Amino acid sequence: MPDQHRHRAQLTRSRARRSPSAARRFRLGPVASLAPGESLKFMLPIRGADEECFLINFGGEFFAYVNRCRHVPMAMDWVDNQFFAEEGRYLMCQTHNAYYEPRTGECIAGPASACGKLLYRVAIEIKDGIAYASPPTEEFED
Ligand code: FES
Repeated sequence: MPDQHRHRAQLTRSRARRSPSAARRFRLGPVASLAPGESLKFMLPIRGADEECFLINFGGEFFAYVNRCRHVPMAMDWVDNQFFAEEGRYLMCQTHNAYYEPRTGECIAGPASACGKLLYRVAIEIKDGIAYASPPTEEFED
């Protein structure tokens, strides 16, 4: 094997051996700037592609999901950064009105093929008032 190809094979092997615990996390910003009922969109590298995600403040608790409806894999916010519906009780995809539970990401109403499915969760860690996001490790099913 030529040296150039051997070197490339070594790089590939070393990358494949990374442990899941070595997953990177990304700084989103201070959670104090996100009031209850508000959301913040951000980009996160997931398996080599930048994916749009969103962070929500649901009654003082913070959750984040990939901005990808489980009915059709497209962004949920037809109106930019508008995810909450029913006075902040649910998250909603504006395309065909799929409703999701903010705490779990479960689709609880809307198109039948989406009901019962979960939004892809982005793990959030808050340290010293700063939110950090870790890319999901699960494969997208659609
Ligand atoms: S694409 Fe979201 S409800 Fe249809």
